Amino acid sequence: MPVVFDEERRLWSLQGQATTYALGVDGEARLRHLYHGPTLPRLEDLPAPDADNARFPFEPPEGPAARYEYPAWGGMFYREPCLKATFPDGVRDVRLVFDDHAARTEDGAPQLTISLRDLHYPLLVRLYYRLFEEEDLVERWTVLENAGRAPIELEQVLSATWHLPRGHGYRLTHLAGKWVGETLIHREVVTPGKKVLESRRGNTSHHANPFFAVDKGNATEEWGEVWFGALAWSGNWKIAAEHDAHGLLQISGGANDFDFSWHLEGGETFETPAFLGGYTREGFGGMSRNLHRYARKHVLPKEPPGPRPVLYNSWEATYFDVSEEGQAALAEKAAQMGVELFVVDDGWFGARNDDTAGLGDWRVNPEKFPRGLGALIQKVHSLGMAFGLWVEPEMVNRDSDLYRKHPDWVYHFLTRPRTESRNQLVLNLAKEEVKEHLFSMLDRLLSENDISFIKWDMNRPFSEPGWPEASAGRQREVWVRHVQGLYGVLRRLREAHPGVAFESCSGGGGRADLGIMRLTDQVWTSDNTDPFDRLSIQEGYSMAYPARTMMCWVADPGQWTENRRAPLSYRFHSAMMGSLGIGGNLLEWSDEELAEARRLVERYMGIRTVIQEGNQYRLLSPRDGDITAVQYVAEDRSRSILFVLRHPTRFQDPVPTVYPRGLAEGSLYRVTGMEDIRSGRSLMGWGVEVLLEGDLASTMIELTEVGG
Ligand code: DGJ
Repeated sequence: MPVVFDEERRLWSLQGQATTYALGVDGEARLRHLYHGPTLPRLEDLPAPDADNARFPFEPPEGPAARYEYPAWGGMFYREPCLKATFPDGVRDVRLVFDDHAARTEDGAPQLTISLRDLHYPLLVRLYYRLFEEEDLVERWTVLENAGRAPIELEQVLSATWHLPRGHGYRLTHLAGKWVGETLIHREVVTPGKKVLESRRGNTSHHANPFFAVDKGNATEEWGEVWFGALAWSGNWKIAAEHDAHGLLQISGGANDFDFSWHLEGGETFETPAFLGGYTREGFGGMSRNLHRYARKHVLPKEPPGPRPVLYNSWEATYFDVSEEGQAALAEKAAQMGVELFVVDDGWFGARNDDTAGLGDWRVNPEKFPRGLGALIQKVHSLGMAFGLWVEPEMVNRDSDLYRKHPDWVYHFLTRPRTESRNQLVLNLAKEEVKEHLFSMLDRLLSENDISFIKWDMNRPFSEPGWPEASAGRQREVWVRHVQGLYGVLRRLREAHPGVAFESCSGGGGRADLGIMRLTDQVWTSDNTDPFDRLSIQEGYSMAYPARTMMCWVADPGQWTENRRAPLSYRFHSAMMGSLGIGGNLLEWSDEELAEARRLVERYMGIRTVIQEGNQYRLLSPRDGDITAVQYVAEDRSRSILFVLRHPTRFQDPVPTVYPRGLAEGSLYRVTGMEDIRSGRSLMGWGVEVLLEGDLASTMIELTEVGG
């Protein structure tokens, strides 16, 4: 039974494959967290909801003993609340008590709903728990309902709070960075106080990613207890890890309360994004594999099905200098190489010759494409490739017909200048007419042209987030309404054009999260296409998100960093660890390079299901030394791919032995480049010796099961 209820003690437990999550109602009808750890199938083993009481003299009842499931700001509660609200009479104190519960199966997953209500006011709070048994994950989200008639002002509505066992010495792992340096792993000891990871920029952001992992200070890639979580939200978000001297550690998260408020009219509801949480004893690697499986099975769109195709993107080859002729020439080269999807990036529309004009005018530029897009699309199809196109729908240049016609469609304050970034302003997706315009424009583009793929970009964060037509009480809803509007437009487009796949991009990897992944098939990981820098960006990305979604290009050398000149094979091996793309100027590639690229693309196609659908093992980290090793293992363990990349060669040091993981111990494997057949046990125990000579050398080793 995945959801068990003990009626007498009023407690629930959610039973995953290897974990239990438990909560219960205490003597004052408050909902408390009880346990999140290794499986405890016997309900009697769980502590009573009041067990923690009275151990903390000189502390209020809402103090360190009170690990509330959904803490509201009221009474003597001083930590990060999930909920802060003002009632119509000005009372700003919320007291939630247990009301009701229900368990059922929703889309094949067990779901528990617990309803709370305020002691006095008609505010209902429904907490949802969706259990993914196989992945040992719980998705939590909350719906608030104003069951009265007078409006309630919401000032903070987070999705959920996760509690860790009382203790000290915890370590927080999170992903932070910048443009061209996204999702880098940071690890630090949790000390008393509050560490806030957040975005206040309107998008998920390059600077922090809505993911956390906490361990007891000793977890490794393959061993140790890790509690972790990720938010399904692509706008302002917040994850606050709060620790106190009594050893309490709570992690609360959801849409950011900064500059947020929501006017909840009588009869209305407000739904938070989902905050996924999990526990594993198998270290950071076990955590990531569970997250990857969950995203592949339960998050990513099911249509269009199949592996992610190898794509070519012309951005770094042509930038804004796009023309039918130039793109057709690139398409011929891409097709020779075995590329499956040809994508035209920025510059195909309006007066878009650089980044100062045209955004918003999504009509094909007649000088660049005198025969419309149709002729190029036909050409691309005749070469055996699908066609894809770049758009940036949420934005407008001041120098565009759309802005000249609708200057009031962008976020702005009437008395303030409209700050431009990359010469553009952000459209107000809280407005119905803007959402409608975006949907009909994109619907037309996809109906009139045979397009299989859209790269949806978003190149600047918000500023002056004003919505002058709205009442003062609703102004601060824009942060949430923008994301809801974006999701709504994407959802409608996917329903109307189920064959079209989407890529989420935000000036590189500024919009990578479980929310956008419900509506997009892949993510542009970073504008940094340097194959060595990418190893660190990709390593961090893989903490939370699966390889299938991680778009990686083979670019021309020296694009980004100190003119680094990596060999083509190294560039490929770095990019083959996710969804493979090519982004170089193919017109400048030699015949030998094109031929080598063709061989590597073919090789990738032969192994991509293992990479895109398999289990990933981070064997050697680019953070720890001169060698990076990453391995992928098919779910049935019959195949595995191992990438080993060397940065500098120093002091004639050999590559350390690499120990593959996740193989079937008793099976026999053939290893490319080696004579002997070896058992899984030997490969994992004795390891693999790899010879890599020279700087930026790399290899890809395939392990194939040949018997048992
Ligand atoms: C930012 C993206 O990350 C790039 O790949 C490219 O699409 C440019 N925008 C185009 O303006």
